[in-house]
Amino acid sequence: MTANEGQVKDIHKVGLLFGGRSAEHEVSLMSARSVFAEVDIPGIDWVPLAISQNGKWLSPEISRKLITTEIDRIPEEEENNYGSILESIKKNLSEEIELIFPLLHGPYGEDGTMQGFLQTTGIPFVGSKTAASAVAMDKSFAKNIFERHNIKQADYLLLTAQDIKDKGEIAGLENRVVEKLGLPCFIKPASLGSSIGISKVKEIKDLMPAVRMAFEYDNRILLEEFIPGREIECSVLGTWKNSEVSRPGEIIPEHEFYDYEAKYFSSRTKLITPAELSLETEEKIKSLARRAFRLLYCDGLARVDFFLTEGEEIYLNEINTIPGFTEKSMYARMWQASGLEYAELVKKLLGIALD
Ligand SMILES: Nc1ncnc2c1ncn2[C@@H]1O[C@H](COP(=O)(O)OP(=O)(O)O)[C@@H](O)[C@H]1O
Ligand SMILES: [Mg+2]
Repeated sequence: MTANEGQVKDIHKVGLLFGGRSAEHEVSLMSARSVFAEVDIPGIDWVPLAISQNGKWLSPEISRKLITTEIDRIPEEEENNYGSILESIKKNLSEEIELIFPLLHGPYGEDGTMQGFLQTTGIPFVGSKTAASAVAMDKSFAKNIFERHNIKQADYLLLTAQDIKDKGEIAGLENRVVEKLGLPCFIKPASLGSSIGISKVKEIKDLMPAVRMAFEYDNRILLEEFIPGREIECSVLGTWKNSEVSRPGEIIPEHEFYDYEAKYFSSRTKLITPAELSLETEEKIKSLARRAFRLLYCDGLARVDFFLTEGEEIYLNEINTIPGFTEKSMYARMWQASGLEYAELVKKLLGIALD
């Protein structure tokens, strides 16, 4: 028994925080349902803590019904049940909860805002702290850090909402894109996930509509060079000082790219674990994943995503500090392929958070 497994024995109530305000609300519901249904740790009770799409902390009864699928959506009257947000938080964050496992994806959950709030309560929680979460969520901040440490990434341009002039145009943008990035290129909001707001632009006439669409989700966006290659990922677990890396996995979207539909609805998307790679490439990817985790001072868990070109060049795409967390999600599957089962994985994460 390791030190932190011993600590897990001393706690009894673990809050599972899910739902939330982001566009990835539904994805979060799936992650939390999977942990609740599949992971049974003797002596530990899961306390479901649901947050509505409007940011209300729902009652324990409704949270339980949502997580057990007794209901699949939040009844409207429940949204109005609480006088104030603070009151609803207070009702739910009773001192009985000894540890929180936030399974919120995207803005207001994965981006450091919730982590900052949890840090102020003093309740330990699973995953990265405020700064690491915020930097990992914002692709432009993360790129800056990785760039500084010479980690290979797609070339890019950063635009802010201020760059958009009257009539929604940006002077000279088309030329800059053609010269610096070439076509096709990718347009993405700086901080979102699940491929929301992302376009692959193949013809210059499609550039501005894609730019305007991305600006609907964020006031900073990235325009990125297209990297043709395989999509390879790795799971990391531990603390920033001391982490373990899983065997890599591969995603074959069978779509133009790994878009929202391919992520959550397409039966044609293939998730391959472990990925078929030479030993040398596998080791390089694993060591880059660990480096990325460490460079951002991540803790707990993260999934690190790469592109691997035909010439075996490895490009870092992004790091997700609260990746999809169902038993069938890549994060858990890559650990299974490395000999760590889902329930054991959850137990390890709780232990790390308590350490
Ligand atoms: N520069 C790129 N070159 C090739 N494909 C890309 C590039 N950027 C994104 N993609 C495709 O779009 C998907 C989503 O982009 P990503 O940056 O991972 O955003 P998200 O945070 O929404 O997952 C990727 O999984 C990949 O399929
Ligand atoms: Mg991604």
